Amino acid sequence: MEPVFNEGLMAAKVVLITGAASGIGAAATELLLREGAAVMMADCDVARGMALAEALRGFGGQLAFIEADVTSESAVAGMVARTVELFGVLDAAFNNAGIPGGYSTAVSCTNEEWEQVNNINMRSIWLCMKHQIPEMLKTGGGSIVNMASRAGDSANLNMFTYAATKHGVVGMTRSAALDFATQNVLVNALLPGLTQTPMLDAKLALHICENDYLNAVNIRCDGGFRVPYSFDVGVNSTTRQ
Ligand SMILES: NC(=O)c1ccc[n+]([C@@H]2O[C@H](COP(=O)([O-])OP(=O)(O)OC[C@H]3O[C@@H](n4cnc5c(N)ncnc54)[C@H](O)[C@@H]3O)[C@@H](O)[C@H]2O)c1
Repeated sequence: MEPVFNEGLMAAKVVLITGAASGIGAAATELLLREGAAVMMADCDVARGMALAEALRGFGGQLAFIEADVTSESAVAGMVARTVELFGVLDAAFNNAGIPGGYSTAVSCTNEEWEQVNNINMRSIWLCMKHQIPEMLKTGGGSIVNMASRAGDSANLNMFTYAATKHGVVGMTRSAALDFATQNVLVNALLPGLTQTPMLDAKLALHICENDYLNAVNIRCDGGFRVPYSFDVGVNSTTRQ
């Protein structure tokens, strides 16, 4: 992997990343390391996580990997505790683990699909914040970035459960941000569109983590997907002619 940038933006900061073994989480791990952070990678895919941790050794800050299934409260509590045990504090967390789920509607969605997608995409974010925020409060605050999606404030055809869970992430983010704002815990969410370049989303996550003024913000990064520009232009120009 080629260096992206290296300005020491996260020097001496301790960051926990879930879903760190692949895609956006892996890109964020690399980027944060290069910016000087101590990174705890957490993922349920041990082989992939260990291989990436090995490949990234020597890229910058300290790095550790922990196996953690974010649907399990004891695993989430354990990954937070281990981060603090190893690195002393928890300054920031990127709660990124998630799955797309199947293609279904409100009618065809099965109980199993609902449980699985909800547990991995939404309940896990609650569990993560539940255990991360108390650690951050001990040291005067911190920054949390929750991974939502463009589907967190809009919809795609036949992606009922995914949209439901990502809307949930947006709501939990706003609520937690409000509840802990006066205690200096910042909570924001990222809403990417279809990601072809995970590093782009990773950069945004990094900048949210190191920014001490953003709070309760749900940041869309989808190339302007939802702006109905061409549609409006078409309708307006037709109307005018
Ligand atoms: N890729 C996109 O186009 C896109 C767009 C918008 C939002 N997102 C969101 O970004 C996040 C990451 O997506 P990605 O494309 O990098 O996916 P990815 O599949 O490349 O990586 C997801 C990681 O999460 C891990 N994971 C899954 N279930 C887990 C569990 N129960 N416990 C711990 N780890 C678990 C996987 O092992 C994997 O390493 C997801 O929340 C996804 O919904 C992705």
